[in-house]
Amino acid sequence: MSSPTASQFVFFTCQPGAEQPLKAELAASQPEWRLAFSRPGFVSFKCGDNVGAILASRQPTFARTLSISLGRVSNSSLTAAAHEVWQIEGVAALVASQESIVLQVWQRDSLLPGENGFEPTLTPLAEEVRQALLAAARESDALTDGHLIDAKVAPTDSVVLDVVMVEPNEWYIGWHRALARHQRWPGGMLPIAAPDDMVSRAYLKMEEALKWSGLPAVRGDVWVELGCAPGGASQALLNRGFQVIGVDPAEVDELVAGNPRFVHMRKRSNEVRRVEYAPAKWLAADLNVAPQYTLDAVEDVVAHPSTSIRGLVLTLKLADWSVASPELLTQYIERVRSWGFRDIRLRQLVHNRQELCLVALHSRGQRRMKRSRRRPTKGAPDDSPSGPPEVRFDAPTKMVPPHHLR
Ligand SMILES: C[S@@+](CC[C@H](N)C(=O)[O-])C[C@H]1O[C@@H](n2cnc3c(N)ncnc32)[C@H](O)[C@@H]1O
Repeated sequence: MSSPTASQFVFFTCQPGAEQPLKAELAASQPEWRLAFSRPGFVSFKCGDNVGAILASRQPTFARTLSISLGRVSNSSLTAAAHEVWQIEGVAALVASQESIVLQVWQRDSLLPGENGFEPTLTPLAEEVRQALLAAARESDALTDGHLIDAKVAPTDSVVLDVVMVEPNEWYIGWHRALARHQRWPGGMLPIAAPDDMVSRAYLKMEEALKWSGLPAVRGDVWVELGCAPGGASQALLNRGFQVIGVDPAEVDELVAGNPRFVHMRKRSNEVRRVEYAPAKWLAADLNVAPQYTLDAVEDVVAHPSTSIRGLVLTLKLADWSVASPELLTQYIERVRSWGFRDIRLRQLVHNRQELCLVALHSRGQRRMKRSRRRPTKGAPDDSPSGPPEVRFDAPTKMVPPHHLR
């Protein structure tokens, strides 16, 4: 792709290998977009001149990030490339239109999370490029003092200038607004530290799911985890002060099993009496089975009259991409919605492998348990069958363009 110009291209970063389901999602939701350039972990589209339509689109399940393209820089000199970025017309106009701006720089991933110990992270090279960009901005007066803000303290809706390093010397420049939590972090990578005694990678997935979704669980709440062995996700829950009922016929690591706030039911989920789940407010599932079986197991719990589960964190394993077609993703969401959950988010987390994370709450504003369809709670506003369901593929990424791009 030659130099894309402002408002004509949009680009996404994703897990390497997830380009195909990402493209399928976009073919379904944005049929007029045309694939422009892609590499493992990076996909761009020509999307016409209608910035409003791009901004109104939702971030797809398989996208870690979404950026409106402003240009591309390719130069083997780091310093020269950094200067070129600030000279891009769209970048200068974006910066000039904003009182403050956030700068995010990251590298596309070329390995799967967990592959040979690899975990997505901000690389030293990305930090070096960021420093070079800041130095070039100071030298060329592209950014004035106080113009640059830290995403952590930036107001919601702040404009973020994105520099994606597709190759070390080939950068794609774009922008987005920091609305959802993950949009405040370069590459959508929420900061998650692996403890030295981490029992399994599931710890990272659970931490990311909790940080991304902001579920209103509080210390002391009881979780049930279906498929808890060896125990990484339960370890994350325990470290946050929750109590956990772990269900799995397999052995749980002693670090988790020995925690007084953990109870191991060494059975398959369908062998546990539902009444045992009664204290639980939250349910996590991470079963190594196809999504429909995970959903069957979860439905058995949440639809039972003796349980009152407020929210879900489900890992849906994708044996192959055919179980992640746009139609099936919609079916998974619709099925969870049929249990009374209205705030449903689906995303391939940065730490997910070939799997997705589905998080659900009964309602966004009113976070209390609605009874299963078998026992509707009379008079509860959520029970109105005519009320529109709130179904979201990830948090909304509706963005208002900076003035010069409207
Ligand atoms: C990916 S592992 C779970 C990892 C775990 N969440 C962790 O944090 O380490 C999948 C687990 O699902 C369990 N499993 C599969 N089917 C199950 C079922 N019907 N009921 C309970 N556990 C099940 C397996 O025994 C296996 O330990």
